[in-house]
Amino acid sequence: MFADRLGDAAQTIQHHFDLILGALDALPVVEAMAHATHGGKRLRGFLVLESARLHGIDASRAIWPATGIEALHAYSLVHDDLPCMDDDDLRRGQPTVHKKWDEATAVLAGDALQTLAFELVSREETSPNAAVRAELALRLARASGAQGMVLGQALDIAAETAQTPLTLQEITALQQGKTGALIEWSATAGACMAQADTTALQAYARALGLAFQIADDVLDVTGDTITVGKAVGKDADAGKATFVSLLGLEAARKRASELVETACDSLAGYGKDADTLKEAARFVVTRAH
Ligand code: IPE
Ligand code: IPE
Ligand code: MG
Ligand code: MG
Ligand code: MG
Repeated sequence: MFADRLGDAAQTIQHHFDLILGALDALPVVEAMAHATHGGKRLRGFLVLESARLHGIDASRAIWPATGIEALHAYSLVHDDLPCMDDDDLRRGQPTVHKKWDEATAVLAGDALQTLAFELVSREETSPNAAVRAELALRLARASGAQGMVLGQALDIAAETAQTPLTLQEITALQQGKTGALIEWSATAGACMAQADTTALQAYARALGLAFQIADDVLDVTGDTITVGKAVGKDADAGKATFVSLLGLEAARKRASELVETACDSLAGYGKDADTLKEAARFVVTRAH
């Protein structure tokens, strides 16, 4: 079952975090990093492991960038939850870092998780080929920064106070940055490690990333806090620009399903080997958290 495979990947990634963070001094900021990297679905790490498997890259190598992208994702969540951003008290069913510690610790734990991500991707264990490691790091920098995730987050915050509602095109661009860029990095990582063509996985990830964020926006409306593990009903209150706010619940769901089909079709060239990635795409829109 797909849920079992995702669960196995999550366990492997958690074990790797335990090893890496366990080797650091037990300071509050390191404890906060461990807290922030605990739990979660590990979808991004899973995409790294699975795209690597698809290209014949050993899991003992892929686990390094898989853990790296989960560190980067965890940093983005710690900062996203800060009072100056979405101001959230609950993440993955646990208090957010600034609630359990303080804002300074949350800022610093996020900073350190971001640099840890680049360290893990650049370590020799990731690839014996330095050019591959440099390419992964370059792509990660672009996916994370002012033309990727940070851009999306900035557009997301700006949209809260926009005078006119965003258009479908603008919301798509916002979400491609905010959520899509890291998902794209993850799904193309395996091809990149094998120095293979990333085109098909890129098309898959573009559709998957959008479907994923639509599902997140739908869950904010339809989910409950216990199941989702974070506060719900906040997007409408904050005036967030989402597919749900623009299209309504049903049309947003329909758009997500269409995107899943597009994602699956993109992988046709891989044949049956890509079945697990196709299941991942279906999981993304049927998930309950
Ligand atoms: C939540 O991501 C933030 C978004 C980009 C929508 P996930 O839903 O992947 O969060 P975890 O890692 O499973 O907690
Ligand atoms: C967060 O998006 C995306 C990033 C952290 C880059 P959201 O603000 O929608 O995520 P949740 O709903 O808090 O998980
Ligand atoms: Mg946000
Ligand atoms: Mg948020
Ligand atoms: Mg959300």
